[in-house]
Amino acid sequence: WPASAERVDGRLRVGGVDLERIAEQHGTPFLLVDETEVRGRARRIREAFEAAFSPEAGGAGVDVYYAGKALLTGDVARWMRDEGLRIDVCTGGELAIALRAGVDPALIGSHGNNKSLAEIEAGVTAGIGTFVIDSAIEVERIAAVAERAGRVQRVRLRISVGVHASTHEFLATSHEDQKFGIPIDEAPAVVARIRELPSLELAGLHTHIGSQIFDHAGFAESARRMLALHAELGADEPLPELNLGGGFGIAYTAADSPEPIEAIASRLADAVRQAAGELGIPVPRIAIEPGRWIVGPAGVTVYSIGTVKPVRLADGARTYVAVDGGMSDNARPALYDAQYSARLANRASDAEPTLVRVAGHHCESGDIVVDAEWLPADVEPGDLLAVAATGAYCHSLASNYNATPRPPVLAVADGAVRVLVRRESIDDVLSRDEGLAASPPAGT
Ligand code: LLP
Repeated sequence: WPASAERVDGRLRVGGVDLERIAEQHGTPFLLVDETEVRGRARRIREAFEAAFSPEAGGAGVDVYYAGKALLTGDVARWMRDEGLRIDVCTGGELAIALRAGVDPALIGSHGNNKSLAEIEAGVTAGIGTFVIDSAIEVERIAAVAERAGRVQRVRLRISVGVHASTHEFLATSHEDQKFGIPIDEAPAVVARIRELPSLELAGLHTHIGSQIFDHAGFAESARRMLALHAELGADEPLPELNLGGGFGIAYTAADSPEPIEAIASRLADAVRQAAGELGIPVPRIAIEPGRWIVGPAGVTVYSIGTVKPVRLADGARTYVAVDGGMSDNARPALYDAQYSARLANRASDAEPTLVRVAGHHCESGDIVVDAEWLPADVEPGDLLAVAATGAYCHSLASNYNATPRPPVLAVADGAVRVLVRRESIDDVLSRDEGLAASPPAGT
């Protein structure tokens, strides 16, 4: 929950504003982000890593990129810029948001394992800071576009470092069976090729081991492997910086207890310093790319409850509570079996808590919003349900499944609510269907 979430007279408020009042004005479902919390978290993670990698702490500084894939709108891009973060994009669409929001192109980094020619051209022409090269083929593609444009493009090379983030097992091989990056043992040849090309300038190496990680040992192991490679490939011609990616985990339910980000930053800095010491090289300038950690906890989704249905099971019963959204606004439970927590937003209740499953309104049994949650037994149609920690990878993963219009993204700050992305209408959803172009909406 955002730090500002509180119950006043039984009703849930975020950022000082009653969620039911927002529902009355904007309808449900909606995603609400607490701007103060997003900005505060952006500042906090930047300051934590700046302190951990400061010259006083034996470092050479850090650049913090916000991973826009978590949630990117014009306002969110500007908040990040204002809080001193850079922006990491991974498609032409995300690049367009950052550029139109007025972010300095030099502060934009672009990812993607299969960037189209149009995406490369858009980035080179805009003058973005760096491209992260993901394959040997891309070296030639980006170099050719930069050459045609008469530019020298800064690039990083993404390395598949062979660390399995979500488990405690570190794979011995550097060849992971996944699509991103270049295996460690192929990196020297690709780096040599980048250095041959006058239209490319190598800023450094990059890796990203995964997302929603609590196990700091994975970050440390990846940093050690990357520093060894950085030392090897920087021996003759120094590499200015090293990008260690994002992936810092957040709490979705009471079962998750992430360490404070300051502890994570300082542990990572220890691992980097120690590895650099052993290799006899100076600590490089570091870059990180957090997304979820910044926006995830700052968002709540509010739904209206439509039906409440007890279902008899072999070993008891379960109450299904169905809401007016679902996998089209939060695909994460269906995709990753992700767990969430929820509360009644419009009232408190003294009724016994009962274990419910919150389902969406889509035609699919895997359309679950919250797999298991205790709600008051008197939960009823018309109640509002707030689901926590939906700021990251919900709006960005939203779809129009079942021709469903996507909910708006609202922001609360200083007690006022603003629309960041307006609600889609059914006409918006149907507007690309050429077979309906001749039939006006009913009633017009
Ligand atoms: N950098 C790179 C290269 C990435 O691929 C990602 C995430 C990030 C940074 C940011 O990771 P974060 O700090 O947000 O964990 N849709 C999934 C998450 C996919 C993450 C993909 N890459 C989910 O909803 O859990």
